[in-house]
Amino acid sequence: MVQDTIQRRWSSRYGYMLAATGSAVGLGNIWKFPYIMGENGGGAFIVVYLLCILFIGIPVMMAEVVIGKRGRQPPAASFRLIAHEAGASPRWAGTGWFGVLAGYLVLSFYVVIAGWALAYVWFSGSGQFGQGDTATVSALFADLIADPLKLAFFSTTILLGTVVVIGRGVNAGLERAVELMMPVLILMLLVMAAYAGWVGDFQGAFDFMFVADFSKLTLHGVVTALGHSFFTLSLASGIVVMFGAYLPTGVSVVKTSIYIAIADTLVALLAGLVIFPVVFGYGLAPSAGPGLIFQTLPIVFSQMPGGYFFGTAFFTMLVFAAFTSSLAFMEASVAWLEGRFAFRRMQAAFVSGTVLWLLSLLTIFSFAGAEWTKLDLSWLGGGQANIFETIDFLTANVMLPLGGLLIALFGAWIMTKQASREEMATNSIIYNIWLFSLRYVAPVAITVVFLQLVGIIQL
Ligand code: PHE
Repeated sequence: MVQDTIQRRWSSRYGYMLAATGSAVGLGNIWKFPYIMGENGGGAFIVVYLLCILFIGIPVMMAEVVIGKRGRQPPAASFRLIAHEAGASPRWAGTGWFGVLAGYLVLSFYVVIAGWALAYVWFSGSGQFGQGDTATVSALFADLIADPLKLAFFSTTILLGTVVVIGRGVNAGLERAVELMMPVLILMLLVMAAYAGWVGDFQGAFDFMFVADFSKLTLHGVVTALGHSFFTLSLASGIVVMFGAYLPTGVSVVKTSIYIAIADTLVALLAGLVIFPVVFGYGLAPSAGPGLIFQTLPIVFSQMPGGYFFGTAFFTMLVFAAFTSSLAFMEASVAWLEGRFAFRRMQAAFVSGTVLWLLSLLTIFSFAGAEWTKLDLSWLGGGQANIFETIDFLTANVMLPLGGLLIALFGAWIMTKQASREEMATNSIIYNIWLFSLRYVAPVAITVVFLQLVGIIQL
């Protein structure tokens, strides 16, 4: 197992960066970031989000790479090994488990949203956006999510694709695909932002995003920003530890992590600059929720010359961006099944895929509005929420930050300094800044936000 893990490394530093960026950039940036920003008041939310990325996300990301690189094993085993090396309890392996479980739950709804994107490739290609009037576009979306069979068809296609590619092993083909995808995605977003700004209300969008009005920021917004900084960087879900385990020696943990965080943030902000000019220009609600991009982008495409082609190309890219993230998600569970039960890779991928498929039905029926998916969370201090909303909140806003807290504590206080210094392989100033953030800033910030959260739940 150790041998196998070590051998399946990225072809090069560049290959690792591509794969890691491919995992980070996904639906989180293009689908989720705009709508949660819209729901939480814009500018002030972005400020908190950026602070979370800088002072919590990046240090935790480096810690995960360091842990993976030291352990060279799937997440739980890496934690166990390092704990052993430091004379600490083997129970720390639980941190790895917890992450894999969180990632798994996220993936259960992730494939459904990726399925929406796939449906939109079809809608765009077959000219179903019409003249792009808001009524047609909204109806298209409403009809799609109300139809469980259609949704199941699209998400099953995504899941099958993921299973087959993962079953065959992380390969150079994936790296090359991401290499092509990233620049194209950024370029398309730039062109779309220009168009959206032109046909929509650029000034309104700019003010909404970059003028921070803190009176609009709620505690819920802060919790969401914190959670999303983990979600978008693929943290606390076993993925980055897994990637660290495959990292070639001699690659700079610091530089690659910073680069990935910058690329990821850039894509998210660009996505906002595409969506919000349309929202304000066409009188849509910024707080429309998970359907936001699907109700705004078709309007942009129907206005653009060549928008028919462009829209199809864009949704294809979105599917692809989601796909590279799904692959990363699944890698951790498959690596574990292989190691633990001596499954062949393809077998492991199918087992993992089947469980995910069943879980994905919960999200599908939530969107379709099935009665049994409606939960009453008033006993928790919450209101009414469907299963999708509950899984989303539980993973992004609770499990990921909690996992991040454990990782920060582990990397900063349990792992020996000698080990982390060796794996970070950087100068002592940067090392000390990192250690300080990980020891104090990240744990204190996460704990404070959590205490507040518990506070609101009890109110
Ligand atoms: N970071 C991905 C995105 O923003 C989501 C993700 C989370 C992928 C965790 C892998 C692991 O879309």
